[in-house]
Amino acid sequence: MPAGGQYPGRITWSVIIACCVASSGGLIFGYDIGISGGVTSMDSFLSKFFPSVYHLEENSTSSSQYCKFDSQLLTLFTSSLYLAALVSSFVAATVTRKYGRKWSMFLGGLTFLVGAVINGLAVNVFMLILGRVLLGIGVGFANQSAPVYLSEIAPAMHRGTLNIGFQLMVTIGIFVANLINYGTAQIPGGWGWRLSLGLAAVPALIITIGSLLLPETPNSLVERGKNDQAKRILVKIRGVTDVHPEYEEIVAACDEARAIDHPWSNILKSKYRPQLIISSLIPIFQQLTGINVIMFYAPVLFKIIGFGSNASLLSAVITGIINVGATVVSILLVDRAGRRPLFLGGGIGMFLCQVSVGALIDILFGVSGAGTVIKKLAAPVLFFICIYVAAFACSWGPLGWLVPSEIFPLEIRSAGQSITVSMNMLFTFAIGQAFLSMLCHMKFGLFYFFSGWVIIMTLFILFFVPETKNVPIEEMMIVWSNHWFWNRYIADEDIIGNRYSNNNM
Ligand code: BGC
Repeated sequence: MPAGGQYPGRITWSVIIACCVASSGGLIFGYDIGISGGVTSMDSFLSKFFPSVYHLEENSTSSSQYCKFDSQLLTLFTSSLYLAALVSSFVAATVTRKYGRKWSMFLGGLTFLVGAVINGLAVNVFMLILGRVLLGIGVGFANQSAPVYLSEIAPAMHRGTLNIGFQLMVTIGIFVANLINYGTAQIPGGWGWRLSLGLAAVPALIITIGSLLLPETPNSLVERGKNDQAKRILVKIRGVTDVHPEYEEIVAACDEARAIDHPWSNILKSKYRPQLIISSLIPIFQQLTGINVIMFYAPVLFKIIGFGSNASLLSAVITGIINVGATVVSILLVDRAGRRPLFLGGGIGMFLCQVSVGALIDILFGVSGAGTVIKKLAAPVLFFICIYVAAFACSWGPLGWLVPSEIFPLEIRSAGQSITVSMNMLFTFAIGQAFLSMLCHMKFGLFYFFSGWVIIMTLFILFFVPETKNVPIEEMMIVWSNHWFWNRYIADEDIIGNRYSNNNM
């Protein structure tokens, strides 16, 4: 048994194809993140569904640049999806565990598809919100199952690279949505928003049909007693005939899993404390980087900073490209450099950029927010925002999904991932909902607020998050037992590798 080591096998085409298809679960999430900000800044959309917001904006006499767009109703539209995703991820946990990862992805795609159609055809706010709730359910299912699928199907040596395919698709979804918004905003007649919302059906179709073609993960098959099928798939995806060591490891993990009836109460046991704390805090911290302020409100933010309405969408496109490009960089580095260096480097980069943006906006508008835009300063603001997005996309963006999905043992993996999804959605919701009034009240200090959180999360990584690169997924307990702090929660017999070798001595 290769405790802490590698199993025989190489990266095969069947794994690469399976990972590409499963990653497209990230497309629906990304598309929605990218589309909402642009649509809610289209006048035709606002005047149809949120006339009060539209008139307020039109007749705004506020001299403060910070408070121009503060509307709870509008932000509720953007954020409602995240509440639906939060709740549905718990249901998804049961589907993922009992019926397999691919059926959760399928259900996610299908629900998202129906939501997209309803949104594209919406004639009133009710249809709009109903559509968004369905989109949210879809995102909850896809984000719960796709990262787990990827982490299980990938060989340990390439798990980081293949798992980040999910985040890459998130960023591509955001980017494509930004481009679509840019195009549809130009359509005469004011129906462009319908196209923006309705085209969400395309990524939904990709994951819905794609998931039907996917092989199930060996871990999930063994978990459901389909051992022969699991062995066959393992041979195929690893490209070797001798898959015995890895297969035995999965079976050992499954024996453990079967002994557990209630993953939800088990997750509270002290031996799972490290995973529980880390997988709850990582998504919270990911949102407290403030990334979605940029993702949702880039068009609004750029309008405030003084770019015109089109220029603001164009700037969102620029950040979109940087987001995709920097995610590719993290794909190249994650299994070589490891997770920790990326987390730490990204944290330092984000901190420096946020402090710079805060200072520049202070110079632009001061505390009163009454200043006029100094063109010379708008460019450096855009520059630092771009570097900030790059730093996030190399670190907390992909790792915020990768690390939680790879640290849970099989018996509580599905439940654990739904905690990650729900924490992520809760804080995405809270920040989405609070951002515009926070900007109005905290002014440029908002950027300092997020930079303070970046310091805290970077220290958390430094002291409490061990390196997980190249560790086989069913052997992760070793990582905790070797950690200066978490080892107090782990007894020797909690490590499957140890138990396995003892049994075979
Ligand atoms: C986050 C999203 C964010 C996106 C930006 C994801 O990892 O979960 O909230 O909008 O990255 O690329």
